[in-house]
Amino acid sequence: MATMADVARSAGVSVATVSHVLNDTRPVRPHTRQAVLDAIEELGYTPNTLARSLVTSRTRSIGLAVSAISNPYFTEILQGVEAAALEHGYSLLIADPHDDPVHERKVVQLLHERRVDGMIVAPSADPRDLVAYLGRHRVPTVFLDRVVGTPEGDGTALFDQVCAESAEPTTRLVTHLAGLGHRRIGLVAGRPGLSTTRERITGYRHGLAAAGLPHDERLLVHGDSEAAGGERATAALLSLAVPPTALVTANNAMTIGALRTLRERGLTVPGDLALCCFDDFAWADLFSPRLTAVAQPSRELGAQAVRLLLERLAAPDRPARTVRLPCAFVHRTSCGCPERSGHTAQSPTEAHERNPQ
Ligand code: HPA
Repeated sequence: MATMADVARSAGVSVATVSHVLNDTRPVRPHTRQAVLDAIEELGYTPNTLARSLVTSRTRSIGLAVSAISNPYFTEILQGVEAAALEHGYSLLIADPHDDPVHERKVVQLLHERRVDGMIVAPSADPRDLVAYLGRHRVPTVFLDRVVGTPEGDGTALFDQVCAESAEPTTRLVTHLAGLGHRRIGLVAGRPGLSTTRERITGYRHGLAAAGLPHDERLLVHGDSEAAGGERATAALLSLAVPPTALVTANNAMTIGALRTLRERGLTVPGDLALCCFDDFAWADLFSPRLTAVAQPSRELGAQAVRLLLERLAAPDRPARTVRLPCAFVHRTSCGCPERSGHTAQSPTEAHERNPQ
């Protein structure tokens, strides 16, 4: 296997010059640079990043720990992270903590032992061990999707974090349904303990209050952020003595669950039950009726997490920042609105109205 010394000899330059060409650490005259690149090509030289890491103490890698990678929301986040990391010359090590605090702590330690330069983590509902570990080892970290405050609950962030707005878009779904005349609007809420769940519940309550509707606790059922939970929660809501006439589902997986329960019972949307959901997904416009949804900027969330992490690596001591990105309201027909004449939105990116009122 060719070494850097072989490249230097073949190009007639010093090993240091080869290193500067490879790492862009100092300007090298175009002629010399080309000679080095030619020698690399000719000898089939591949840089040994492990050897380089021993010198620089940097691996140019990022550890990414997100649960539910198969959920399209997280898959898109992953695409955003990967593209941004690559753009900046970083590679990824990926782990799935399965939303389990014990497993989460374990996989984060494994990534840390691999000496990733920093980590992007979507924390579980009980991130205490995770937070203690990252803090103790001073791991440069960005929390993604779920935000975590200090134990004092004073609103200060422990780590840099990036998430989508959750409350205001949920309010928007509720007031939209209320505007269509619904007075009993149910919420299939996510897994308790996640900030996204809390914020979407807050948004739901604000929506009811803004529409002057009473708040009936029985209309809020947790679906655990998964399809099976969404099925159960929807079944529970439909079994109420006075069931809801409209439903808000707080993520894509629970929407699938809700639709399954409705189909099993022979109920139609929006005829028997109007439906608005958090999360748009690639095929939401193929459902019949097409789903009125809140679209999260998932790829951008991933890219922003990488940018925050790189800023942190460049300035380790600056105060932690929380970045919240807006969502888009995608108005289709599952809410009960008629197809708008002359307008048939076919893709999730069409018909977006940014933060409309
Ligand atoms: N958080 C936010 N949005 C989501 C999630 C989640 O865990 N799952 C699907 N959409």
